[in-house]
Amino acid sequence: MYRSQKLALRYFTAAVTLFGVMIVFGLLSALYYLAPSTLFNVFNFNTAKIMHIDTLVIWLLMGFMGAVYWYLPKELGREVEGIWLGELMFWVFCVAVAIVAAVFIVVQYGPANDTTLWLINQGRKYVEAPRWAAIGIVAIMGVFAYNVAATCIKAGSRMTGVMWVLVLDMIPLLVVYLDAFPVDTNMSRDLYWWWWLVHMWVESTWEVLIGCIMALVLMDVMGTSRRIVEAWLYIEVMLVLGAGILGLGHHYFWIGTPQYWLGIGGFFSALEPLPLLGMVVHAIYDAGMHRMKTRNKPAFYWITAEAFGNFIGAGIWGFMMTLPQINLFSHGTQWTVSHGHFAFYGAYVCGVIAVLYVAKQQTSGVDMLAGRAWKWGFGLLNLGMVGMVMGLLLAGMAQAFFGRAIGGSTLMAFTTASENPWFQSGMWARMFFGAIFAAGYGVLVYDLLTAPRREPALQTQALPEPA
Ligand code: HEM
Ligand code: HEM
Ligand SMILES: [Fe+2]
Repeated sequence: MYRSQKLALRYFTAAVTLFGVMIVFGLLSALYYLAPSTLFNVFNFNTAKIMHIDTLVIWLLMGFMGAVYWYLPKELGREVEGIWLGELMFWVFCVAVAIVAAVFIVVQYGPANDTTLWLINQGRKYVEAPRWAAIGIVAIMGVFAYNVAATCIKAGSRMTGVMWVLVLDMIPLLVVYLDAFPVDTNMSRDLYWWWWLVHMWVESTWEVLIGCIMALVLMDVMGTSRRIVEAWLYIEVMLVLGAGILGLGHHYFWIGTPQYWLGIGGFFSALEPLPLLGMVVHAIYDAGMHRMKTRNKPAFYWITAEAFGNFIGAGIWGFMMTLPQINLFSHGTQWTVSHGHFAFYGAYVCGVIAVLYVAKQQTSGVDMLAGRAWKWGFGLLNLGMVGMVMGLLLAGMAQAFFGRAIGGSTLMAFTTASENPWFQSGMWARMFFGAIFAAGYGVLVYDLLTAPRREPALQTQALPEPA
């Protein structure tokens, strides 16, 4: 095994651990909706939610980095350049995350001054980490980008199409993260740039990154030909950029930007599901070409879940509220939260879990992953997520209808909508299915950690006892 792959296993371990932390704080955040005085004066909703969504971003990043460190040496047939720097940065990353989390939990907030920005919280949703840690993350991502780029350069003529896409994607991955640093005091301008972080980073740059990772997994698990995988990858990247760049406008409807964004954002973002549809067609096409044959069933199931989850969660759930006529009512309700959960889960969580199973099979050296635990994990996680998403959709539609359309968006209407039985049931459903999701996580971890069961061999069949 390459050193880079050992580093990948470390990244996977850290990612799965933070996935667990994220779920704990997700459940806690959900509890405030049912019992608003939870931990009153001890720990507030905002900090619980910060822990939830920041660990989300970090564990997915770690999962992607693990996947890249796993496949890079295999793809290019050589150890990763400067791997020692990457190994060092892994520990820096873990220590920084632990300190930031401890500060969030213990200190929670500070006065509105520079010290707070440097040491406690920069206040940017999804990337709240204080400035020192954000600088650290830039350094870590810089080393990661260097590892990838330098290895590609050394590989010379062995360079592949997937690697070209990957190495070019390192540029926006690094540059758009700079958005985590607030600079502008004008709220409209500030939001204008902040949306690049959600839309251009998480929805576009990450989408290209997971596209590369899925291309590598497909070749690995299904034996799909490189020509087919690369052709699809180019088409998907073209569509992501074609629709996604101006699609950014769907976040510019109500933040004080000029009115032309209503038309531009509405039109281009409506095209955004196309590349995701392309991925579904691609997965079905490959499965058909190979008559659904694979040696790694869990990975195959999770890749399929990724293709469909990405299309439905990001594509359909996003499309539902991307036209300004609808977004006027749905903006910032639990409807958005429903889409946020479904999209992140479908597009990224399922993809990272697929890679975890690839790593499990190769480190344990079995020909065929068998057993039942992975099916339980797969079923519970998917059931938990779909149940949560439906509960949130119900709650969000109640808010849009009673709070916005009928109530006219006043504070009183917001309160009335929050007491509406449909909204309340949605919040209970989210909690219930969240618990199922957490159980699925438990089974997933159990399955990843236990030694794989081998397919029973014929010789082991019990022979009749001699008389
Ligand atoms: C046990 C499972 C989970 C529970 C109970 C849970 C609960 C919550 C709660 C209560 C919020 C705050 C929503 C608000 O501000 O009103 C939230 C936000 C969020 N969660 Fe989760 N979550 C869970 C799992 C996940 C997973 C697996 C993902 C990603 C795949 C995720 C991604 C997010 C995102 C992106 C947000 C921000 C959404 C927004 O503000 O629009 N959560 N979650
Ligand atoms: C992997 C891809 C995607 C991910 C991870 C994702 C995630 C998210 C998240 C987390 C938010 C909430 C941001 C916040 O307020 O904190 C959001 C908002 C939004 N997304 Fe997506 N999304 C994806 C793709 C898409 C696509 C393809 C569309 C449209 C076709 C779309 C349409 C929207 C819209 C309209 C909003 C704004 C909702 C509002 O007004 O409150 N998204 N997305
Ligand atoms: Fe967007």
